[in-house]
Amino acid sequence: MRAYRHPDDLRALQGLVRRVWSPGCQYHVGDLAWQRRQHLGREGEWPTALWEQDGVVVGWGWAELPGFLNLLVDPARPNLIDAVLEWFDGVATAGPLTVVALQHDTRLVEALERHGYSRKQTEVYSQYMYRPLTGLPEPGSPPGFTVRPVSGEADAARRAAVHQAAWHPSRVTEDSYRTVMAAWPYRADLDWVVEAPDGRFASYCLIWYDGHNRAGEIEPVGTDPQFRRMGLARAACLAALRALRDLGADKAVVYPTRGHPASQGAYPLYRDLGFIPHARTHTYEKP
Ligand SMILES: CC(C)(COP(=O)(O)OP(=O)(O)OC[C@H]1O[C@@H](n2cnc3c(N)ncnc32)[C@H](O)[C@@H]1OP(=O)(O)O)[C@@H](O)C(=O)NCCC(=O)NCCS
Repeated sequence: MRAYRHPDDLRALQGLVRRVWSPGCQYHVGDLAWQRRQHLGREGEWPTALWEQDGVVVGWGWAELPGFLNLLVDPARPNLIDAVLEWFDGVATAGPLTVVALQHDTRLVEALERHGYSRKQTEVYSQYMYRPLTGLPEPGSPPGFTVRPVSGEADAARRAAVHQAAWHPSRVTEDSYRTVMAAWPYRADLDWVVEAPDGRFASYCLIWYDGHNRAGEIEPVGTDPQFRRMGLARAACLAALRALRDLGADKAVVYPTRGHPASQGAYPLYRDLGFIPHARTHTYEKP
């Protein structure tokens, strides 16, 4: 067992996620693709290590400097959590050291407490939600607006612009969006937009499909503030979810942030779409 760098870290991280995934898993192949590709030039801030046995990745740590850690280990190898936390102690450049854990991940929580972490009191957390893809309503949309998948790179500029408007200020650019489009398992037919009568993109929903587990993940969704509360995100999400179902998926997951003013609409949107909350995260810190 050894820690090493991989020439294509993203695919190596995704490989373990795909192999051990269940709806209760903290990561999906899609959020890793989105988080690692949405901004350009951040590789230097992200020490990443993989643990492998017999050629198979059984654990990984992805540090976001100065002091945040993402990690996943094969549930059959829980002792590896200690190795990843020790590796993180060595690469973090400033405290506090921060790790987010799902509430029911007792092995990770116990390991964090053993390593001197304690639960932080914070209002902000991720709500893990799940929806079987049965009984999806028709999308619908206001007159004059068109709900459609992107047509590929030709739409990259408008697609990046609507993301920037929804998440202002955002570091996503047309070029960084092209790298998202090139990442596995991005598919243009699961990247839905709502086009306004003047040609601007007003809203969007991106879904990532893990065909091995028949599970899609919504990440992210946004509506330009000029077009909010018109039912556009709902229409984009429903259209994308129906396309996901038509590819053979039987479930979708999403992890909206709760307790943060910038994400106020996210949880009600997904609840309105029939997603059911099943877990939440807690944040752990070590000074
Ligand atoms: C969350 C967001 C995508 C909603 O977009 P939208 O186009 O305004 O949403 P819709 O009009 O389709 O809303 C559908 C339903 O979701 C719920 N909803 C949406 N925004 C809401 C808000 N701010 N407060 C409460 N409920 C809200 C409502 O139930 C709404 O139905 P209603 O208007 O009939 O009451 C938008 O506010 C946004 O871009 N926020 C910033 C980015 C973000 O948080 N994205 C989601 C996480 S990935």
